[in-house]
Amino acid sequence: MTKDVAWRIDDLIAQMTLTEKIGQMTMLAASLVETGPPGPRNPATRVREGRAGSILNTWGANEIREAQRIALEETRLKIPLFFAVDVLHGHRTIYPVPIAEAGAFDRALWLRTAKESAEEAAQDGIQMTFAPMLDVSRDPRWGRICECAGEDPFINAEYARAKVAGFQDAPEERSRRLATVAKHFVAYGAVNAGRDYAEVDVSQRALHEIYLPPFRAAVEAGVMGIMPSFTDVAGVAMTAHRPLLRDLLRDTWGFKGVVVSDFNAIAELIPHGVAADLTEAAILALRAGIDIDMMADAYEIGLPKALDAGAVTMAEIDLAVRRVLELKFTLGLFDDPLRGLASVSPSPDSDPSRRASARDAARRSVVLLENRDTFLPWTKPPRKIAVVGPFADADGEFMGAWCMAGESRETVELITGLRNAFPESEIGHVAGCSIEQSDASALEEAITLAHAADTVVLCIGESRYTSGEAASRTKPTPSDSQLELARHMIATGKPLLLILVGGRPFVLPQWLVDGASAVLAAWTPGTEGGNAIADIIAGKWNPSARLAVSWPSEVGQIPIYYAMRTTGRPYDSNNGFTTNFLDAPMTPRWGFGDGLSYTHYELGETRASQLVVGTSDTLDVSIDVTNAGAMAGETTVFLFIRDPVAQVTRPALELKDFQKIELAAGETREARFTLKSEQFAYLDMNLSPRLDEGRIEVFVGTSAKPSDLRRVDIDVRNPSPVPREKVASAQQRSDEGG
Ligand code: NOJ
Repeated sequence: MTKDVAWRIDDLIAQMTLTEKIGQMTMLAASLVETGPPGPRNPATRVREGRAGSILNTWGANEIREAQRIALEETRLKIPLFFAVDVLHGHRTIYPVPIAEAGAFDRALWLRTAKESAEEAAQDGIQMTFAPMLDVSRDPRWGRICECAGEDPFINAEYARAKVAGFQDAPEERSRRLATVAKHFVAYGAVNAGRDYAEVDVSQRALHEIYLPPFRAAVEAGVMGIMPSFTDVAGVAMTAHRPLLRDLLRDTWGFKGVVVSDFNAIAELIPHGVAADLTEAAILALRAGIDIDMMADAYEIGLPKALDAGAVTMAEIDLAVRRVLELKFTLGLFDDPLRGLASVSPSPDSDPSRRASARDAARRSVVLLENRDTFLPWTKPPRKIAVVGPFADADGEFMGAWCMAGESRETVELITGLRNAFPESEIGHVAGCSIEQSDASALEEAITLAHAADTVVLCIGESRYTSGEAASRTKPTPSDSQLELARHMIATGKPLLLILVGGRPFVLPQWLVDGASAVLAAWTPGTEGGNAIADIIAGKWNPSARLAVSWPSEVGQIPIYYAMRTTGRPYDSNNGFTTNFLDAPMTPRWGFGDGLSYTHYELGETRASQLVVGTSDTLDVSIDVTNAGAMAGETTVFLFIRDPVAQVTRPALELKDFQKIELAAGETREARFTLKSEQFAYLDMNLSPRLDEGRIEVFVGTSAKPSDLRRVDIDVRNPSPVPREKVASAQQRSDEGG
């Protein structure tokens, strides 16, 4: 902030009435899309009266011009508005949902799609995105699992860095950048039973080891906003959580940006049972450090009364207003209130590289889960293909949960992708049922089509409307109507390619997995989904995506994730008195890092540049990876550690780094990681960083499965106390500062 800007902000604040100050702290929703409970959706009057400083859920030249005109021409102080939207996985060009894109394990890709989304959204008049979503989740019942980067804190932290950089810094012109808002602070992914908005009761250890690190990474990357979650954490509502929002986020981490409440969340302190009315709610939120009230009107109604009663001070209000104005200056709105706005909304076709990029992102995110007898790729395509299932031609279902400006008509459906890829084949299509309902005649037609075909492609899953917010399920499974269709398709005895569409890991019946010749997790792949899936089926792309989240085989296994602690009785199939289920396996159906390729990779031994380290040492760990098949490909190599003897019980594996390598057929390359010994530290009984003397096991390989990992042991000698900052920075990639 230059002196000149600071002076202009002081000057504005000095001129403002209380109403105008609270106006800057108020964000209202327009009605282009609905992302919250019903309420008034006409912000124009309030803007005119200086009673709103920002608007969510609107975009497009006409809408933005008009709203900004009112702010600049009809308000007393002529302060520009800013406009915010949930641009999570694309604006008009839609990319795979985050949980899918996370499985590409590709930082450059994460950054690129954010950059492109920022450019498109900014041209449509948006300056802030409520992204990235960083709620580590291990529960497929929770619909919002699709918005995060999976089950692992390190992946979510790396994803946070890439997304903040991509949205906020990467577009060359400032007018094409978006301010990012990391959400939902914190531990929203741990809602009880995966039930949205439910209570959260995690330990301090889980908070500090699992849920906070991605937000810490976002703050280190310069995120401009933080959104607290709707939920409580151990009885303290996050919207009023002073220890986490003020003491930790601002005072310890040094966060300088704005804290934006979630939609109506300040008013929801009343049903949470911690405020009697909007005034009490406003006091709690302001004192916790929330600068912007999104759609609760708690600040508008409550703050004047709170001020009169002496429950808040003008200085506290001014501080929040200052942060909002600083943001507007940083975004360049005072110099150029319509910054970057294009007269026509961008579309996937307005820039020829957009569709190519969306196709690339999608094919890097589709996971090949099963491939019996190398059923795929179709180097010799079947002559007659029956494409069945309600997702093969499903009117934009591929766009996924947050596809605000996405257009169904611009989305390439599976049937179109297949027809593009296999022009010589005869491709018939019948849905066979709707997403939720059976249809006897459609089922008959599908059976007839399948019998007449050489191969069946069955595309089933869950609707984008039942994925994302307020979309919890006790049975994360395709609907009964689709399972009925699947049974009939398998009964035809034809080779069957199962394509699963949706935003969460599915719990699938065994007969379905056994009955398929190959299984692809397509997730919701976005605008170019149909072409991307067809690229994989045709072998134009060698699948390389892996799972960033485990897929349980039974709902009762949830939560199931690779980083579980070993327990005092680790599972032993020869000993019944060990941790176990009587009626389900101990492992998920497909786990973290699982995903097949058309080639296969062989691993050499894991090597370390030194086998003994002291406290501040750096070491290189490397492994040779060989593409032992006949097709070029890319693979992800993970580096995990295990601390076999510590003061507290530790996870069976902890991810410390990963990298993607490309290999031609027959090629061998070395994957090399640089580690700092502080990365071996952990939080002790008092949650203080600690590095013990003794062995650390380092595992390198292609998934979290023991058979995919190669180990080397490192001896830590003469460790000295590890300062807290060192452990925090050890969360970073080792090639970054620290
Ligand atoms: C509620 C959601 O929880 C949040 O993620 C989103 O940013 C807001 N609505 C605004 O749409």
